[in-house]
Amino acid sequence: MSLASEGKREITLRFLAQPTDVNFGGKVHGGSAMKWLDQAGYLCSTGWSGRYCVTAFVGDINFHNPILVGDLVEVDAKIIHTGRTSMHIGVTLNSCNPKQCEFSKSIHCIMVFVALDEGGKPVEVPQWQAEDEADIAMEKYAIRIMDLRCINQKELDVLIK
Ligand SMILES: CC(C)(COP(=O)(O)OP(=O)(O)OC[C@H]1O[C@@H](n2cnc3c(N)ncnc32)[C@H](O)[C@@H]1OP(=O)(O)O)[C@@H](O)C(=O)NCCC(=O)NCCS
Repeated sequence: MSLASEGKREITLRFLAQPTDVNFGGKVHGGSAMKWLDQAGYLCSTGWSGRYCVTAFVGDINFHNPILVGDLVEVDAKIIHTGRTSMHIGVTLNSCNPKQCEFSKSIHCIMVFVALDEGGKPVEVPQWQAEDEADIAMEKYAIRIMDLRCINQKELDVLIK
Protein backbone atom coordinates (compact mmCIF):
# COMPACT_ATOMS: atom_id res chain seq x y z
CA MET A 1 0.00 0.00 0.00
CA SER A 2 1.56 3.35 -1.06
CA LEU A 3 1.52 6.65 0.85
CA ALA A 4 -0.73 8.07 -1.91
CA SER A 5 -3.35 5.36 -1.43
CA GLU A 6 -3.35 6.20 2.28
CA GLY A 7 -3.62 9.94 1.56
CA LYS A 8 -0.23 10.59 3.19
CA ARG A 9 2.43 12.65 1.45
CA GLU A 10 5.04 13.16 4.13
CA ILE A 11 7.70 11.08 5.85
CA THR A 12 10.15 11.87 8.66
CA LEU A 13 13.51 10.25 9.41
CA ARG A 14 15.01 10.58 12.92
CA PHE A 15 18.48 9.49 13.97
CA LEU A 16 21.66 10.60 15.77
CA ALA A 17 24.62 12.14 13.92
CA GLN A 18 27.38 9.53 14.29
CA PRO A 19 31.14 10.03 14.75
CA THR A 20 31.56 8.58 11.22
CA ASP A 21 29.44 11.46 9.80
CA VAL A 22 31.68 14.30 10.97
CA ASN A 23 34.74 16.10 9.63
CA PHE A 24 37.90 17.08 11.55
CA GLY A 25 36.10 20.07 13.05
CA GLY A 26 33.49 17.78 14.67
CA LYS A 27 30.74 18.97 12.35
CA VAL A 28 28.70 16.83 9.98
CA HIS A 29 30.12 16.62 6.44
CA GLY A 30 28.04 18.44 3.84
CA GLY A 31 28.08 15.19 1.85
CA SER A 32 26.57 13.22 4.76
CA ALA A 33 23.80 15.78 5.13
CA MET A 34 23.10 15.64 1.37
CA LYS A 35 22.90 11.84 1.56
CA TRP A 36 20.26 12.13 4.31
CA LEU A 37 18.24 14.61 2.21
CA ASP A 38 18.41 12.24 -0.74
CA GLN A 39 17.37 9.25 1.38
CA ALA A 40 14.37 11.13 2.79
CA GLY A 41 13.37 12.34 -0.71
CA TYR A 42 13.73 8.80 -2.07
CA LEU A 43 11.61 7.33 0.72
CA CYS A 44 8.90 9.97 0.22
CA SER A 45 8.76 9.62 -3.59
CA THR A 46 8.95 5.82 -3.58
CA GLY A 47 6.35 5.67 -0.83
CA TRP A 48 4.04 8.04 -2.75
CA SER A 49 4.36 6.37 -6.14
CA GLY A 50 4.85 2.76 -5.08
CA ARG A 51 7.70 2.71 -7.63
CA TYR A 52 11.47 2.76 -7.68
CA CYS A 53 12.49 6.43 -8.07
CA VAL A 54 15.63 8.26 -9.10
CA THR A 55 16.84 11.73 -8.20
CA ALA A 56 16.51 14.02 -11.23
CA PHE A 57 17.29 17.34 -9.57
CA VAL A 58 18.42 18.84 -6.29
CA GLY A 59 17.77 22.56 -5.81
CA ASP A 60 19.76 25.13 -3.92
CA ILE A 61 20.98 23.70 -0.64
CA ASN A 62 21.77 26.25 2.05
CA PHE A 63 23.49 25.11 5.22
CA HIS A 64 22.05 27.43 7.88
CA ASN A 65 23.46 25.88 11.06
CA PRO A 66 26.16 23.27 11.68
CA ILE A 67 25.15 19.77 12.80
CA LEU A 68 27.35 18.30 15.53
CA VAL A 69 28.22 14.72 16.41
CA GLY A 70 25.57 13.34 18.78
CA ASP A 71 22.90 15.76 17.54
CA LEU A 72 19.40 14.45 16.98
CA VAL A 73 18.66 14.87 13.27
CA GLU A 74 15.14 15.06 11.86
CA VAL A 75 14.63 15.04 8.10
CA ASP A 76 11.14 15.79 6.85
CA ALA A 77 10.22 15.18 3.19
CA LYS A 78 6.87 16.01 1.64
CA ILE A 79 5.32 16.11 -1.82
CA ILE A 80 4.80 19.71 -2.92
CA HIS A 81 4.01 19.13 -6.61
CA THR A 82 3.44 16.17 -8.91
CA GLY A 83 4.03 16.20 -12.65
CA ARG A 84 3.23 13.30 -14.96
CA THR A 85 6.14 11.12 -13.81
CA SER A 86 7.99 13.46 -11.45
CA MET A 87 7.48 14.36 -7.81
CA HIS A 88 8.77 17.62 -6.38
CA ILE A 89 9.66 17.16 -2.75
CA GLY A 90 10.32 19.82 -0.11
CA VAL A 91 12.97 18.50 2.26
CA THR A 92 13.83 20.12 5.58
CA LEU A 93 16.55 18.98 7.94
CA ASN A 94 16.37 20.15 11.56
CA SER A 95 18.81 19.21 14.29
CA CYS A 96 19.26 19.72 18.00
CA ASN A 97 21.29 18.70 21.01
CA PRO A 98 19.14 15.86 22.43
CA LYS A 99 19.67 17.22 25.96
CA GLN A 100 17.77 20.41 25.07
CA CYS A 101 15.66 19.29 22.09
CA GLU A 102 15.43 22.84 20.74
CA PHE A 103 15.46 22.21 17.01
CA SER A 104 17.08 24.67 14.64
CA LYS A 105 16.60 24.57 10.89
CA SER A 106 19.83 23.40 9.28
CA ILE A 107 18.89 22.79 5.66
CA HIS A 108 15.93 23.21 3.33
CA CYS A 109 15.80 22.33 -0.33
CA ILE A 110 13.56 21.12 -3.15
CA MET A 111 14.34 17.85 -4.90
CA VAL A 112 12.77 16.25 -7.96
CA PHE A 113 12.40 12.46 -8.17
CA VAL A 114 11.15 10.50 -11.17
CA ALA A 115 9.31 7.18 -10.86
CA LEU A 116 10.52 4.38 -13.12
CA ASP A 117 8.78 1.24 -14.36
CA GLU A 118 10.38 -2.21 -14.40
CA GLY A 119 12.10 -1.37 -17.69
CA GLY A 120 13.66 1.80 -16.23
CA LYS A 121 11.33 4.18 -18.12
CA PRO A 122 9.55 7.12 -16.44
CA VAL A 123 6.06 6.09 -15.39
CA GLU A 124 2.99 8.05 -14.28
CA VAL A 125 2.61 8.84 -10.60
CA PRO A 126 -0.51 9.41 -8.49
CA GLN A 127 -1.45 13.10 -8.58
CA TRP A 128 -1.25 15.21 -5.44
CA GLN A 129 -3.71 18.10 -5.00
CA ALA A 130 -2.77 21.12 -2.92
CA GLU A 131 -5.63 21.91 -0.57
CA ASP A 132 -4.76 24.70 1.84
CA GLU A 133 -3.27 28.13 1.11
CA ALA A 134 0.23 27.21 2.26
CA ASP A 135 0.33 24.15 -0.02
CA ILE A 136 -1.05 26.11 -2.99
CA ALA A 137 1.63 28.80 -2.49
CA MET A 138 4.37 26.15 -2.16
CA GLU A 139 3.22 24.36 -5.32
CA LYS A 140 3.20 27.66 -7.24
CA TYR A 141 6.75 28.29 -6.00
CA ALA A 142 7.88 24.80 -7.11
CA ILE A 143 6.43 25.37 -10.60
CA ARG A 144 7.97 28.85 -10.85
CA ILE A 145 11.46 27.68 -9.94
CA MET A 146 11.12 24.72 -12.34
CA ASP A 147 10.48 27.22 -15.17
CA LEU A 148 13.43 29.34 -14.04
CA ARG A 149 15.65 26.24 -13.95
CA CYS A 150 14.81 25.52 -17.61
CA ILE A 151 15.93 29.03 -18.56
CA ASN A 152 19.12 28.73 -16.47
CA GLN A 153 19.88 25.28 -17.88
CA LYS A 154 19.61 26.52 -21.48
CA GLU A 155 22.08 29.31 -20.66
CA LEU A 156 24.47 26.88 -18.96
CA ASP A 157 24.28 24.43 -21.88
CA VAL A 158 25.58 27.22 -24.15
CA LEU A 159 28.37 28.13 -21.70
CA ILE A 160 29.49 24.55 -21.01
CA LYS A 161 29.71 22.56 -24.22
C1 LIG B 1 15.55 11.40 -14.50
C2 LIG B 1 15.47 10.58 -15.77
C3 LIG B 1 14.82 9.21 -15.48
C4 LIG B 1 14.57 11.35 -16.76
O1 LIG B 1 14.56 10.62 -17.94
P1 LIG B 1 14.13 11.29 -19.32
O2 LIG B 1 14.39 10.31 -20.41
O3 LIG B 1 14.72 12.66 -19.42
O4 LIG B 1 12.57 11.35 -19.16
P2 LIG B 1 11.55 12.48 -19.54
O5 LIG B 1 12.10 13.51 -20.48
O6 LIG B 1 10.30 11.76 -19.96
O7 LIG B 1 11.29 13.21 -18.15
C5 LIG B 1 10.62 12.51 -17.13
C6 LIG B 1 10.31 13.48 -16.03
O8 LIG B 1 11.53 13.88 -15.42
C7 LIG B 1 11.55 15.29 -15.31
N1 LIG B 1 12.96 15.68 -15.35
C8 LIG B 1 13.92 15.17 -16.14
N2 LIG B 1 15.08 15.79 -15.88
C9 LIG B 1 14.82 16.70 -14.92
C10 LIG B 1 15.61 17.66 -14.22
N3 LIG B 1 16.91 17.82 -14.48
N4 LIG B 1 15.04 18.42 -13.28
C11 LIG B 1 13.72 18.28 -12.99
N5 LIG B 1 12.92 17.38 -13.60
C12 LIG B 1 13.47 16.61 -14.57
C13 LIG B 1 10.78 15.77 -16.51
O9 LIG B 1 10.31 17.11 -16.32
C14 LIG B 1 9.64 14.78 -16.51
O10 LIG B 1 8.68 15.15 -15.54
P3 LIG B 1 7.08 14.98 -15.81
O11 LIG B 1 6.84 13.62 -16.40
O12 LIG B 1 6.47 15.09 -14.44
O13 LIG B 1 6.67 16.09 -16.72
C15 LIG B 1 16.86 10.34 -16.42
O14 LIG B 1 17.40 11.59 -16.82
C16 LIG B 1 17.82 9.65 -15.50
O15 LIG B 1 17.79 8.43 -15.36
N6 LIG B 1 18.75 10.43 -14.87
C17 LIG B 1 19.71 9.87 -13.94
C18 LIG B 1 19.11 9.70 -12.56
C19 LIG B 1 20.14 9.30 -11.55
O16 LIG B 1 21.01 8.51 -11.85
N7 LIG B 1 20.05 9.87 -10.34
C20 LIG B 1 21.03 9.68 -9.31
C21 LIG B 1 20.95 8.36 -8.63
S1 LIG B 1 19.34 7.90 -8.10
